[in-house]
Amino acid sequence: MEKKKFYITTPIYYPSDKLHIGHTYCTVATDTLARYHRLRGEEVMFLTGTDEHGQKIEDKAREAGVTPKEFVDRIVEGPGGVLDLWKLMNISNDRFIRTTDDYHVQSVQKIFRRMYDNGDIYKGTYRGKYCKPCESFWTESQLVDGKCPDCGREVQDAEEEAYFFRLSKYADRVRDLLENTGFLEPRSRVNEMVKNFIDPGLEDLCVSRTSFSWGIPVDFDPGHVVYVWVDALSNYITALGYENGRYNDYQDWWPGVNIVGKEIVRFHSIIWPAMLMSLGEPLPKKVFGHGWLLLDGGKMSKSKGNVADPYILAEKFGVDALRFFLMRTFPFGSDGNFSNELLIQTINTDLANDLGNLVSRTTAMTGKYFGGHLPAGCAAWASPEPCDTELRSAALALRDAYEKSMEAFAPHTALADVFRVIQRANKYIDESAPWKLSRDMEANGPRLAHVLYNLLETTRICGVLLTPFMPDAMENLFAQTGVPAEGRTWESAAQWGALPETAAVAKGENLFPRVDMDKALEELEAAAAAAKKAAMPAIEIEPQLTEKVDFDTFCKSDFRVVKVKACDAVKKSAKLLRFTLDDGTGVDRQILSGIHQWYEPETLVGKTLVAIVNLPPRKMMGLESNGMLISAVHTEKGEEALHLLMLDDAIPAGAKLC
Ligand code: MSP
Repeated sequence: MEKKKFYITTPIYYPSDKLHIGHTYCTVATDTLARYHRLRGEEVMFLTGTDEHGQKIEDKAREAGVTPKEFVDRIVEGPGGVLDLWKLMNISNDRFIRTTDDYHVQSVQKIFRRMYDNGDIYKGTYRGKYCKPCESFWTESQLVDGKCPDCGREVQDAEEEAYFFRLSKYADRVRDLLENTGFLEPRSRVNEMVKNFIDPGLEDLCVSRTSFSWGIPVDFDPGHVVYVWVDALSNYITALGYENGRYNDYQDWWPGVNIVGKEIVRFHSIIWPAMLMSLGEPLPKKVFGHGWLLLDGGKMSKSKGNVADPYILAEKFGVDALRFFLMRTFPFGSDGNFSNELLIQTINTDLANDLGNLVSRTTAMTGKYFGGHLPAGCAAWASPEPCDTELRSAALALRDAYEKSMEAFAPHTALADVFRVIQRANKYIDESAPWKLSRDMEANGPRLAHVLYNLLETTRICGVLLTPFMPDAMENLFAQTGVPAEGRTWESAAQWGALPETAAVAKGENLFPRVDMDKALEELEAAAAAAKKAAMPAIEIEPQLTEKVDFDTFCKSDFRVVKVKACDAVKKSAKLLRFTLDDGTGVDRQILSGIHQWYEPETLVGKTLVAIVNLPPRKMMGLESNGMLISAVHTEKGEEALHLLMLDDAIPAGAKLC
């Protein structure tokens, strides 16, 4: 009989920076699902990759002084890069796609042309607000107080020739797909999509740009590059060989399941199916939008400097413990707060205490009382006690419950079920008190052997179901408990007795050692600091000096020493801080500065800074700013670093810099 086929994908990640624990979360979850389907005996194709085009990468490469391809090559293939991270995390992807791969480029050009030929892509004019210094187009709603959301400068109306995709044409079919099928999950995301994007009316989508060049050229109009989403979304089919000769797997594997983070559900549940409708191709079986891992309640971002490093965590606690923590702790469809404390707590409670103890106690007792081999006949017991029956039924019912949860993309629930059985088994040890039985081996030996067999069998069933989450640790568990290959299968997880009665049991090293919370937290902090220091320096760029100004022009700038009386974050702005300053005039001066990503406001109160005070007032987020604080800015490891100019506090407010 032909095996059932299952195709599953992660988003393709932007290689604009090292990936962090958030990306790791999605990839581990997808890997767990892929491994679960393999365990069931299905044939699985698991795809991940990188999304390498676009303005951001072009800009970052320029800053680093390398070509965009050199830049992405380093992040994808370089030491500590994307490929290394997935290897470390034991990710079992069958394929890895890079959108700069020739075959993908070729396919995207053909896809674009097919949609053009069938009338779904047409040439029009893209109108937007353009920020010249940033070379970026913005929509009206993206502006902050009418200004560029990135640099705060004036924007101007501008237009450029562009190609558009007739997304509006597919509005009704996409609505129907969302509302009347199980295409998008969790269900709550459907309401979000319909209310926010379909109800207000779908507009045609701009799918080409002429303002940057790092992208796939439209082959019949080379000044245009394909705008990122058409390029990126196509990866799920080009990686199977769609419109290219590299693979021949499209017919066999498509459609599949796309796992994505909640912020890109919109692209995957509206644009992606509409593109496929235009191409006349089958739609994905499912798009699942998982939640975010938050740090300190907020979004992780490299520029905020608040990312958790999967390398450090895996090295410290082990890959399987980290994988387990991610899947056990955060309900897959919702946001969750990541913290090192929570990670250590989970390792100690679930892995060291519950699972680790069960395995070490059971194997140790089998060794101690029976020399590592239970006697033949120990699986049967003429008149089972209630605790025997309870344990056995809990273990036997587990696979069904687990299957339901895994099929519903709820790995956290599947794990909760497994751990309930593990806890039940630990309780069974207390109830059956093997150490008491051992006091009279002649009378109680057979009973003791039966108790241990029940424990080993329960452990085996749990071990099979934990394999997709912790593949290496479960190998180890099976080795210690003597489980043969036939006892590690999906079928055997619903059967009692797959462990041979006389299997060789040998206590090994603790599967999951207990972690000393305080010590580990301290070490993590030190490791994070060391990693920061040791991080490869980015290719340094030549300091660029600007054109000369005459002395009189320079003298017109009035730089003064100012003291920070108060400083707070401006509401609804990620960047702006509001300063109340003593400038020596006796009247408070208010200056707004977009430096929140580098400084927390409370740390600046009392500091002595420098401001230019004769700039015309400027409004930002509805507040007036009178002047500008002076900082030193440079690029470090491809990122902008900023330091406010701070002077000796002995210098009085109002002193003039000249
Ligand atoms: N390149 C696009 C996706 C194109 S797919 C055709 C992109 N890339 S990304 O690098 O920004 O990665 C986004 C994905 O990474 C999210 O959708 C999510 O799966 C994962 N995550 C990134 N940060 C995350 C968290 N803080 N928490 C959980 N997942 C996160 O968007």
